[in-house]
Amino acid sequence: AASKSATHDFLIKLLLIGDSGVGKSSLLLRFSDDSFSPSFISTVGIDFKLRSIRLGDSMIKLQVWDTAGQERFRTITSSYYRGAMGIMIVYSATDADSFNNVRHWIRNIKEHAAEGVCKILIGNKCDLKEKKVVEASRGQALADEYDMQFYETSAKADINVEDAFFALTEQVL
Ligand code: GTP
Ligand code: MG
Repeated sequence: AASKSATHDFLIKLLLIGDSGVGKSSLLLRFSDDSFSPSFISTVGIDFKLRSIRLGDSMIKLQVWDTAGQERFRTITSSYYRGAMGIMIVYSATDADSFNNVRHWIRNIKEHAAEGVCKILIGNKCDLKEKKVVEASRGQALADEYDMQFYETSAKADINVEDAFFALTEQVL
């Protein structure tokens, strides 16, 4: 490039989906504000945060949409799939149901998102080792089945959060 300006070269829209309580909002709070709250304030409908990152020579503005996991918001949240360029499917390693529901979330993507949208699978709360019921190998196997990348993360302990968002962004680019 001839000149480096402060402008953003790209605007990328990402979407977080998954069961209620798996830590979607916490992952986004860690990524956008580098903070964590132990209290659970379930998301109502939809929310978003912005963060700009540098990847190589490019400045990228990430607009990350955080959906409510609760069933009653499904109509509104699914209307946001269409505009997403990358989707993070999150389960909690401490919640077997949330892992089993990943296939359901993938069906939702097929139904509502653009064809061929980038996806990544996240097993969150990996800091809770004694409460863990879903081993990383199972997450990896499921991700392989759908040709997705897989990360075990902890929003609380700040493990792999940045890496996961960067990996999805690189996939979109
Ligand atoms: P909905 O908005 O209802 O869909 O839930 P969510 O997926 O956004 O979950 P949220 O981020 O609100 O987190 C739920 C609870 O899990 C909160 O009490 C968080 O503090 C906690 N939590 C989230 N991530 C982690 C983590 O990595 N480790 C631990 N130990 N707790 C976490
Ligand atoms: Mg939330």
